[in-house]
Amino acid sequence: MSTTVEHRCDVLIVGSGAAGLSLALKLADFYNVIVLSKSNLSEGSTRYAQGGIAAVFDEDDTIESHVQDTLRAGAGLCDPEAVKFTASRAKECMQWLINFGVPFDQERDSQGNTRYHLTREGGHSHRRILHAADATGQAVQLTLTEAVQQHPNIHLFERYNAIDLIRSQSDKKLCLGAYVWNRKQEHVEVIRSRFTTLASGGASKVYQYTSNPDVSSGDGIAMAWRAGCSVANMEFNQFHPTCLYHPEARNFLITEALRGEGAFLCHADGSKFMHKFDDRADLAPRDIVARVIDFEMKRVGADCMYLDISHKPTDFIVKHFPNIYRKCRALGIDITRQPIPVVPAAHYSCGGVVTDFNAKTDLDNLYAVGEVAYTGLHGANRMASNSLLECVVFAHAAAQHIISRKDESMSEEHVAAWDESQVGSSDEEVIIQHNWHELRLFMWDYVGIVRTNKRLERALRRIELLQQEIHEYYSNFRVSNNLLELRNLVTVAELIVRCAMSRKESRGLHYNLDYPEQLDSPTPTLLSRE
Ligand code: FAD
Ligand code: SIN
Repeated sequence: MSTTVEHRCDVLIVGSGAAGLSLALKLADFYNVIVLSKSNLSEGSTRYAQGGIAAVFDEDDTIESHVQDTLRAGAGLCDPEAVKFTASRAKECMQWLINFGVPFDQERDSQGNTRYHLTREGGHSHRRILHAADATGQAVQLTLTEAVQQHPNIHLFERYNAIDLIRSQSDKKLCLGAYVWNRKQEHVEVIRSRFTTLASGGASKVYQYTSNPDVSSGDGIAMAWRAGCSVANMEFNQFHPTCLYHPEARNFLITEALRGEGAFLCHADGSKFMHKFDDRADLAPRDIVARVIDFEMKRVGADCMYLDISHKPTDFIVKHFPNIYRKCRALGIDITRQPIPVVPAAHYSCGGVVTDFNAKTDLDNLYAVGEVAYTGLHGANRMASNSLLECVVFAHAAAQHIISRKDESMSEEHVAAWDESQVGSSDEEVIIQHNWHELRLFMWDYVGIVRTNKRLERALRRIELLQQEIHEYYSNFRVSNNLLELRNLVTVAELIVRCAMSRKESRGLHYNLDYPEQLDSPTPTLLSRE
C-alpha cells in the first residue's frame, strides 16, 4: 500500500469559476479555504461568457418582471421560489462584484448622469443585462482571480483534478473531503475538509459540438451521483443557437446580445425566418431559436444559418462587440459588412446536483454551487444571463450557511489511502480517445436537439457498453485526465438519457418526436440512488 499525501482545510472548493471564487472570497475571512482547479485557475466557462449578467437596474424594470420572464423561458418547470430568491438578490450580488472592481460598461443618460449600460437578450422583456462589452466573463474571472490570489486564507491548487468524494465509513451521508489527482506530479492525494463544495461547472463536453471549454466534463455531477446525491433535470441540456461556423473556429460563441441589439437570423440569401415560428422572432428563448435553426438547416440541407448585424453602424458594432468583431475579422469575416455563419452547439447544463436554498446537497457537509447544481431556477430552459447570476447568488447563500456552522468540528475518522499497487500504466491511450469520440458523437446524433425513443434507447445501449470498458480500464490502469473525464462523461451521458427517457412529453430543451405534446402538470425529473 502506498502512502498518500494528505492536506487539511476548513473548506474545499472544487472549481475556480464564478461560483467557486465568489464562494472562496465570501468565506476566506472566516475559514481556511482550498480551491481546486483542474486546469489553469482562469479556465472554465466563466471566462468565455460574453453577453452579461441579468439584474434589475433600470428604473422601469421590476424584479417581478425578471421573475415572470425567467418562468416563461423555463417553460413551466422553474421552481418559482428559486426564481424569486435569485432575482431579488441580483442587484445586491452585482453590487458585490462591482465593489471588487468588475468593470461593467457604463453610459451617460440624457441628464449627463453615469449609469450602467444594459443590453437585452432572448426571453427578457427589458434591458437588464449588465455587461463588459462582449467579454463579461473575462472581466468577472480576472477580477475574482486577482482577489483570491491576494487573500492569505485562500490556497489555490492549480492542475488538480478532484476524482471522488470521500464519505465516512460509519455514516455514508457524511462527506469528509475528496481524493484528488495532482496532475503535475501524477499522483493521488487526499484533501480532508470540514465542508466541501462542488463548483465544477457543467457537462456540455458530453456533446460533439459545444461552446464550452474542455474542463466542462460534468465531473462534479458524476462525483456527486457516485457519492449518493440526487440529480435532477439532466435532459435539459441547452443548445446555444449561434456558435461561429468556421473550420478554424473551435467553440466560439456569437453572443445573443447581437440579436438584443438588432441582429437577425437569415438564410444564405438573406431571407429571415424566426418571425414565422415565434412572436418574439429573433429574441425568442434559446430552446425555440436553436430548434428552429436546426429545423431550417435540415429542411434546406444547409450546413449553417447566418446572423446579420451589418445594417448597424460600424462604430456601434465595433464598440459593443469588439471581441467578436476581431475574432471574425481574423477569420476573414467582416461582420460590419456581411452575415456571420452560425450553428447551434451544446452550451449549458440546466440540470445537476440537487441543492436547497443554502446550496446544500443530500450529503452532510457537501454543497454545490453554479452550473453543477440544480436549484430549480432554470426549469426546462435557462434564460440568457441568469447563469452567472445564479453562481454569485448561491455562492453567497452557501457562504452564509457554512459560516453559520463555524462551531462544527472536523471528523477525525481514518481515511483510506489511495491504492495504486494493483494498477499499471496504460499503453493504449487510443482506446480512451476512441471512446471519447464515440460517446460525444452519438450523444450529438441521438440525444441532441431533437430526440426519439429509438435514438434514446440506442444511446443507452452504447453507454452501457462503454461503461463496462471504462470500468475495466479504470480498475487496471493509473488515472489520467482523459480517463477521469471519460469516466465522468459517460456517467453524465447515462443520467441525461435516463432523464430524457422518463420525460413523456416535449418541453423546453427536451424535444421528443414520439411525445410532441406537453403534459398538463409537469414535474422536474429527479434521479436518486436509493
Ligand atoms: P466554470 O466557470 O465552468 O468553472 C468550473 C471550474 O471547475 C473550473 O475551474 C474547472 O477547472 C473546475 N473543475 C471542473 N472539474 C474539476 C475537477 N474534477 N477537479 C478540479 N476542478 C475541476 N452565462 C451568463 O449568465 N451570461 C453569459 O453571458 C454567458 N455566456 C456564456 C458564453 C459561453 C461561451 C459559455 C461557455 C457559457 C456562457 N454562460 C453565460 C454560462 C456561464 O458562463 C456558466 O454557466 C458559468 O460561468 C459557470 O460557472 P461555474 O463557476 O459554475 O463553472
Ligand atoms: C450569450 O452571450 O449569448 C450567452 C449568454 C448566456 O449563455 O447566458
